[in-house]
Amino acid sequence: MKIVVMGQGYVGLPLAMAAVEAGHQVVGFEPDEQRLLQLLNGSSYVEDIDDKTLAAGLESGRYQPTRNDAELLDFDVAVITVPTPLHDRLPDLSFVRAATETVAPYVKAGALVVLESTTHPGTTREVVVPILEKATGWTAGDDFHVGFSPERIDPGNERWTFANTPKIVSGLTDTCRARTEEFYRGVTSTVVCAESMEEAELAKIVENTFRYVNIALVNELGRLASLLSVDVWRTLELADTKPFGFTKFLPGPGVGGHCLPVDPVYLTHYARTRHSHTLRVVELARDINEAQPGYVVRRIQDALNLRGRALLGSSILALGLAYKPDTADLRESPAVEVVQMLRDAGADVVAVDPYAVPDPEGKVRATIPLATDGGENCGDFDAVVLLTPHKGFDLQRVADEAIYVLDTRGVMPDGPYIERL
Ligand SMILES: NC(=O)c1ccc[n+]([C@@H]2O[C@H](COP(=O)([O-])OP(=O)(O)OC[C@H]3O[C@@H](n4cnc5c(N)ncnc54)[C@H](O)[C@@H]3O)[C@@H](O)[C@H]2O)c1
Repeated sequence: MKIVVMGQGYVGLPLAMAAVEAGHQVVGFEPDEQRLLQLLNGSSYVEDIDDKTLAAGLESGRYQPTRNDAELLDFDVAVITVPTPLHDRLPDLSFVRAATETVAPYVKAGALVVLESTTHPGTTREVVVPILEKATGWTAGDDFHVGFSPERIDPGNERWTFANTPKIVSGLTDTCRARTEEFYRGVTSTVVCAESMEEAELAKIVENTFRYVNIALVNELGRLASLLSVDVWRTLELADTKPFGFTKFLPGPGVGGHCLPVDPVYLTHYARTRHSHTLRVVELARDINEAQPGYVVRRIQDALNLRGRALLGSSILALGLAYKPDTADLRESPAVEVVQMLRDAGADVVAVDPYAVPDPEGKVRATIPLATDGGENCGDFDAVVLLTPHKGFDLQRVADEAIYVLDTRGVMPDGPYIERL
């Protein structure tokens, strides 16, 4: 079959490679020039796909990265894996609309279009289907097929990959679902059918909202535990010894990445604007999680205060900027927010992140000076804050040298100058 994958990012590239491996002819549509050039040169920017796999795909002659619409001609299946970010703190479906509009003129009779992007219930039916029907003049479900299949990929996770994570599939009609199921059975190991596209859309958002709300709960409990002089990490470990009915989540400096802080907003916004329904627990979770970077700053301020120092003029070493350990991913990273808040308060902050890519002036995001070698003497700073526990950090050295460390991840060895969040 000829497969088109719209968007060659963290979701689209692994899917494209799986489809190539399954023997399909695959067009990887990628409008970003830089990304496209890298793909054409066999250089992968997605951690889960190594250069060897990409090169093998290119050499097979069955993988064709492009940004030329005409290459979409005659496709059998098109899968849309484009971003669904927030714009002005509200859901932004413009990428989904744009990608659907690119695909629409090339839909032939019997073709299948599947949306994979994470979004609120109703998007496939209310946004994707009308664009396709308008462009073709046909009826979705009769003349061509439409499905929704959420992606669950966890970049960097070696245990659960695209190949072995169960894939939910759904369709506009029973035939659409059957077509969607048939496609995914060929590229992944386990397929689970949903009754409707809305059910599948909601299932994906529920998964992430569940995590988001539970992280808010432990963040809030962490604040209480600190007042009680109780270590919340040890408390959670104790609770986790219960073999049933408890799932452990961990506190931290906030919630980052392009999924977890974003997806619940798709749900709350949709519930409020379309159904006048307020998801109170989720909205409260957002308040708590978004306040967490400010809480981290306050804890550093309190610690400095005890030593007769103000944030203003203090020197602070921030360890880790990415939202996730051992990646360079700075999207929505609360660590970046903490650093910016410290700087706004007049602290002199140096950040160390072995993965983040600095600009030619050695800075990240224009303002944060980045020490690239990680060889700073931690004792030269008034405070050290561990924000992202990259494997490369020598935590024992930090503990030995620093005069004060705020550990926001509960990973530092015990020591007289170490405080946990
Ligand atoms: N990355 C994850 O861990 C993950 C997991 C599950 C679900 N998702 C969801 O999958 C979707 C894609 O996420 P991602 O991480 O792959 O994003 P990404 O930013 O890595 O990749 C998306 C790609 O789409 C391209 N693109 C933008 N506009 C386009 C258009 N009009 N036509 C074709 N391509 C276009 C971008 O250039 C980019 O390369 C999002 O909805 C996200 O929430 C992501």
